[in-house]
Amino acid sequence: MAGTLAVHGAKNAVLPILAAATICGDCVIRNCPDLTDVAVAMDILGHLGCDARREGSTIITTASSGGDWRIPDGLMKAMRSSVVFLGGMIARHGEGEISLPGGCELGSRPVDLHLFALERLGAQVEEGEGKLRCKAPNGLHGAKIEFPFPSVGATENAIIAAVTARGDTQITGGAREPEIADLITFLQGCGAKIHLTIDGVIHIQGVERLHGCEHTVIADRIAAGTYLCAAAITGGEVLLTGLTPGHVLTALAYLSNAGCVVRTSLNSIWLKAPDRLKELGIIRTQPYPGFPTDMQAVMMATAMGADGTSVFVENIFDSRLRHVEELRKLGADISTQGKTAVVSGVERLHGADLCCTDLRGGAAVVLGAMAAEGASTVRELSHIDRGYERFAENLTQLGVDIKEE
Ligand code: UD1
Repeated sequence: MAGTLAVHGAKNAVLPILAAATICGDCVIRNCPDLTDVAVAMDILGHLGCDARREGSTIITTASSGGDWRIPDGLMKAMRSSVVFLGGMIARHGEGEISLPGGCELGSRPVDLHLFALERLGAQVEEGEGKLRCKAPNGLHGAKIEFPFPSVGATENAIIAAVTARGDTQITGGAREPEIADLITFLQGCGAKIHLTIDGVIHIQGVERLHGCEHTVIADRIAAGTYLCAAAITGGEVLLTGLTPGHVLTALAYLSNAGCVVRTSLNSIWLKAPDRLKELGIIRTQPYPGFPTDMQAVMMATAMGADGTSVFVENIFDSRLRHVEELRKLGADISTQGKTAVVSGVERLHGADLCCTDLRGGAAVVLGAMAAEGASTVRELSHIDRGYERFAENLTQLGVDIKEE
């Protein structure tokens, strides 16, 4: 595998930005990847009374005063992260209703931290018949919100709900992912008064209303990391452009320790892999700036053929090792216990009939198949379309022999 690829915009930045656009004036949001999750978010916006149309990689939003304050079950099920729309719904309509996000392929995915933040801001929460209803008949007010765990979605919900609340809000213990910073930049562009301190405290001074803005979404650091792993696993070379290397630092450190040569510029990363990688050491997933849980699966695929033993500890989600079974079909030597997976690198992997278990697990399975001798078939590709734009096409462009049917 060898070549150059421009990294698409970040799914996890576009989704909260679209949720925030429901409480802003007309917005022009550039660098939006064409993904099924983004399409669902646009449908939700339409339902909530905010017109969203796509022109190439730009999404133009126009929020009207009407629209529903409920997200229908079908749309909730299509994208579990739609809970992030709740803060904007309450800010906009004084109430919001969603069906409770059900089970998830990553294990249980509770929303208690979202509700904790919204309640602090003055929302009353009612639960019943599988629905979650939040009301703030007198509007939301500023508050001190101290998160016990830095949930990405809950931090985003709190920010979106607080920007037009009465008074000041202070969020401590919130998530610090680059996608949160991008949401803040977008909202600041719309007139929100948000100030982020160096120690991660988010100060918000509520404003009455937000205007529109033009915003360019940051590049997808997880997609970038996946293509870097694709080069690493095949002994290849790749130049990624249009991204911030600082957002991928932890992954780059592991790949470089494993023998890859890495060079970065302000907005590009070049990586050249050795014929065989060394072991990756111990990888523990952590909130940003730690190693991202979203890259655990593709990094594990990368470790399968490395010389030595690598250990993965999944600390963020309680059931995020389902790809292991698929990777084993390729001849990988992986044993698991609880949240830990031990990967003993093997010299040869062989083709197999595989299935995508989830979005990132699916990408890992494709990468594994690329490293194996002989042909593999991978099913259930729809998972991959949720987070990677033109995945197979991009890999073809990089010289991978892959055919999508
Ligand atoms: C976001 C990302 C997802 C990534 C994850 C962790 C989006 C659209 N998705 O998901 O790709 O894997 O961050 O980096 O941005 N939790 C609670 N209570 C809550 C909320 C979360 O206990 O109310 C727990 C979750 O079960 C999980 C952990 O906190 O174990 C992290 O979840 P969170 O950071 O909220 O992830 P998401 O925002 O859902």
